[in-house]
Amino acid sequence: SSQMGNDLENVLFTEAQIHAKLEELAAQIWRDYEGKDVLLVGVLKGAILVMADLMRALPGSVPMDWMAVSSYGSGTKSSGVVRILKDLDADISGRHVLIVEDIIDSGLTLSWIRSNLESRNPASVEICTLLRKPEAAKVEIDCKYVGFDIPNSFVVGYGLDFDEKFRNLRDIGTLAPHVYS
Ligand code: PRP
Ligand code: MN
Ligand code: MG
Repeated sequence: SSQMGNDLENVLFTEAQIHAKLEELAAQIWRDYEGKDVLLVGVLKGAILVMADLMRALPGSVPMDWMAVSSYGSGTKSSGVVRILKDLDADISGRHVLIVEDIIDSGLTLSWIRSNLESRNPASVEICTLLRKPEAAKVEIDCKYVGFDIPNSFVVGYGLDFDEKFRNLRDIGTLAPHVYS
């Protein structure tokens, strides 16, 4: 397999920039949830690296749980279909939930997950996403913690995939045209 760096057209955020942003968000989250227990809920699979670095940037112990839903196929466009593939292990009734995501694109995935979790009577539900594409929004999402707003182009790396590839790229960037063909 070729070196992944050759497949990037443009680096949007380096690993160092991503880590610095997550440190900022973690500090803000830690202040906001002072005196409260918060459960981090990651959305598989894209959020794994955001979760790993965000939770380690928090100064105290915080539990995590995971959901897996299907929304995209193998291509670059959303089908808009959401289905639970793996539900939470935890009962979130009465608990403060912070959903951790890598990206809000159309917003369809998170919109569905948020209302699904809200129906389970949690004390609160907030969202933390590393990336957001304002121009791609199909539904309005109230997201309390946003790392970076980005243009409407397809990005990979740091958990974000193209056809399950490039999740392990350390930086985030756009793909060179030869990768698609
Ligand atoms: C991607 C991304 C978000 C979602 C955002 O996940 O990780 O979860 O799409 O898109 P939306 O705002 O248009 O709904 P994907 O479905 O590709 O699964 P993955 O996390 O396993 O890559
Ligand atoms: Mn995802
Ligand atoms: Mg994906």
